[in-house]
Amino acid sequence: MKVLILNGVNLNLTGKRERSVYGVKTLEEINAEIAAYAKIRGVDTEFYQSNLEGELVNKLHEAFLNKSCDAILLNAGAFTHYSYALRDAIAAIDIPVVEVHISNVHAREEFRKNSVLSEVCAGTVFGFGVGSYIAAIEGLKYRAENK
Ligand code: DQA
Repeated sequence: MKVLILNGVNLNLTGKRERSVYGVKTLEEINAEIAAYAKIRGVDTEFYQSNLEGELVNKLHEAFLNKSCDAILLNAGAFTHYSYALRDAIAAIDIPVVEVHISNVHAREEFRKNSVLSEVCAGTVFGFGVGSYIAAIEGLKYRAENK
């Protein structure tokens, strides 16, 4: 099983911005932790981050057209709350996409409680820090093995 992990806008500053919310680990450290965990669980990983909405859309299209992975974890950052372009891209592809957030988006500002992506995602995990990505991998693995 191969999983593409996509991080969107501002996630490149993780470990440096709002550390009380997003923690002290950098995105590089988080990705290394996810890759190591996934490897133990027999899951291959690929990572990509962009602050540009269109580049994330391109990456979703590419994964679909090249059949380059079995599932995608997407932490779209603030795009989650208003990007119909990302929503349409997720709906367009036949690869399961799991929406992931480091923080508990339901325990924060009102605008974060709404995701325009959730409806077209296979599932959503939030509030567990790096554990949100790990839990999403476990959920996908369970789903793949228990049809
Ligand atoms: C986030 C939550 C979003 O609301 C926010 O805009 C982010 C990060 C998270 O991982 O908790 O940038 O996606």
